[in-house]
Amino acid sequence: IYKTFTKPVLAGTNVVITAGGTQEAIDPVRFIGNRSSGKMGIALANVAADMGAHVTLISTVHDPISSPNIEEVHVSTAIEMQKKLEEVFAINDVLVMAAAVSDFRPIHKADQKIKKNNDQDLYTIKLQKNPDILKEISRQKTNQFVVGFAAETENLIPYAQKKLYEKNVDMILANDVSKAGSGFNTDTNEITVIQRDKEPVTWPLMSKNDVASKFWEFYENNIKK
Ligand code: CTP
Ligand code: CA
Repeated sequence: IYKTFTKPVLAGTNVVITAGGTQEAIDPVRFIGNRSSGKMGIALANVAADMGAHVTLISTVHDPISSPNIEEVHVSTAIEMQKKLEEVFAINDVLVMAAAVSDFRPIHKADQKIKKNNDQDLYTIKLQKNPDILKEISRQKTNQFVVGFAAETENLIPYAQKKLYEKNVDMILANDVSKAGSGFNTDTNEITVIQRDKEPVTWPLMSKNDVASKFWEFYENNIKK
C-alpha cells in the first residue's frame, strides 16, 4: 500500500522521525503515558523510505516497517528519545517530530512495585517537566528542515502558530484531536499546515498513509534543495 512512488526521488536524503507516545515509569509495572499509536510517524517513515530516503525511526512502539531503508531505534522515555535524537540530528536533512512526548515524568521511579496502603485513600505522584525535545534540538539546527506536530482541542491555528515560533521550527502539522477521525489512535488525520509567513492550509480528512504521501510530495516539490 505504500508503493505509490516508483522513482526514488528522496535518494540521498537522510530523515529522522520520532513516533509513538513516551512512557514515563512510576514503578517497575506502571507508567504515565498517552493514547498515541505511533501510526502517523510509522506512515511518514514508510513513505519516505519508499521514496528512497534513509530513515532513522526513533519509536516507542514496535512497528510494522516495510523497508530496508529504515533503521529503527526503540526507546521508551522522553529522556531516551532526546538522547538518541541528539546523536543523529546533525547527520540528517529532515526531522519530523511525530512522537507524543509526555510533558511530565515522575520525579522518582520506585524500585519495587508500589503497594496500596489500606489506611490511605489518596496517593500523590510528584511530576517534573520533561525537556521540550523539539525546542531544544531546534537550537542545533544548521540546514535541517524541522517539522513538529501540534495536538490541540481548541484554537487550533493560533496555538499551532505559537508553537512554530516558540520551538523555532519550519513547519507545524496541526490537528484538532477533539475532532472525530483526527489525531490520537485513529487511522485518519485532518491536518492544517502552518508555515512562517504563509497562510495556513487545511488538508481534507484522509488516511495517515495519505497524509504521509502528501507531506513528502510537498517536501520534494517545495523544500528539497
Ligand atoms: N514535543 C517535544 N517535547 C516535549 C513535548 C512536545 O518535542 N516535551 C513536541 C511534540 O513531539 C510535537 C510538538 O512538540 O511535535 C508539539 O507537541 P504538543 O504536545 O502539541 O505541544 P507542547 O509544546 O507540549 O504544548 P502543550 O501540550 O501544552 O499544548
Ligand atoms: Ca504536550
